[in-house]
Amino acid sequence: MSSPSLAKELVRDQDTIFANRDPPVAAKVLHGGNDIALLPYGPEWRTMRKLFVSKMMSNASLDACYALRKQEVKKILREVYNISGKAIDIGELSFSASINVIQNMLWGSTLQGQNMTNLGEELRESFAELMVLFGAPNISDIFPMLSRFDIQGIAKRTTKIGIHFENMIDSAIQRAINISAIGGTANNDGKKDFLQILLELMEHEDGATSFTMTQLKGMLMDILTGGTDTTTTIVEWTMAELMQQPKVMKKVQKELTEVVGIDGTVEEFHLPKLKYLDAVVKETMRLHPALPLLLPHSPSQSTIVSGYTIPKGSRVM
Ligand code: HEM
Repeated sequence: MSSPSLAKELVRDQDTIFANRDPPVAAKVLHGGNDIALLPYGPEWRTMRKLFVSKMMSNASLDACYALRKQEVKKILREVYNISGKAIDIGELSFSASINVIQNMLWGSTLQGQNMTNLGEELRESFAELMVLFGAPNISDIFPMLSRFDIQGIAKRTTKIGIHFENMIDSAIQRAINISAIGGTANNDGKKDFLQILLELMEHEDGATSFTMTQLKGMLMDILTGGTDTTTTIVEWTMAELMQQPKVMKKVQKELTEVVGIDGTVEEFHLPKLKYLDAVVKETMRLHPALPLLLPHSPSQSTIVSGYTIPKGSRVM
C-alpha cells in the first residue's frame, strides 16, 4: 500500500513508533550505523539530530553562507555560458556546486586558502556507487546470519569506496585539530564551521550532549552523501523533464522573465515568488523521488495503520 494519507499516518501521527530504521547491511558498514540516518530513536539520535538542525541548518547558519551559495551558482552560470555549442553535463555542474557548498559549511574555515573546487567526476561516481550498493538486493538483509560471509561482496565494495570518504573526513578533522592547537579557531569573519563546533563540543561535552568520534564521522558522512547526491539527482531530473515538456519549459521561462527579469540572476529571495517553478520541482520529486527505498523505517512496537496490523520490526519503505 502506498498513499499520501498512509505516509502521513506513519511519519506524522505515529512518527515515534516508526522512527527506527531497518537499514540494509551495506549502509551499516560505514561507521556501524552510528549516524543520524541510522541510529535508533533515542537520546543519541536526538543529540546528533539537534546538533545538525541547530548548528548547521538554522536560519542563522544558512544566512551566513548565502554569499557562498550565490558564488557557486554564479560559477555554474559562467560555465554554462562558456560552453557554447557543446553538450552540458548539468549533473556534473550541480554536483560540483553542492559539494563545494556543503564542504564549506562543514569545514570551510580550515580550508581557507586551499583550492577545493572541481572535486570532480570521480567523487560523484563514488557517491552514486554508494547509493547503488545501499539499494542493491542483498541476501544478508533477508538472512542476517549470512552477513558475516558477505556472499555478494557488497560489504567489501562499500568498505573500499568508504575509505575514500573516510580519508577526506579524517584529513578535515586533522586540519581542524591542528588549527585549534595553534589557537586559530575561527575564519576571517570570526565564525566557526560545523566541524570546529562539533570538535569543541566533544571536548567540553556534558553527559546530555555527548557523542563519539565515530558518531561525529557518521554525521559528516550523512551530510556529505545526503546533501549532494540527492540535490544533484533532483536538478538533473528537473532539467530532463523540462526538456521533454516544451510547454512547461516555456511557462517556467515566462515566470522567470516576469519575476527575475531577462538579464537578472535568480536569487534565493525570488523563490517565494517563483510558484510555478516550485510546483515543477515538487512534481519532479513526486515522479522521481530520491532515496525511496534507501532509508526504511521500522516500528518499535506492533501497531495498527489504516486497519492493518504492522508487526514490530517490519521493514516499511
Ligand atoms: C533534494 C534534496 C534532498 C532530498 C530529496 C532528500 C531526501 C531525504 C529522504 C527521503 C530522507 C529520509 C527521510 C525519512 O525516512 O524520514 C532524508 C534524510 C536525511 N537527509 Fe535528506 N534530502 C535532501 C537534501 C538533504 C541535504 C541538503 C542534507 C544535508 C545538508 C540532507 C541530510 C539528511 C539527513 C542527515 C537525513 C537523516 C535524517 C534522520 O534520519 O533524522 N538531506 N533525506
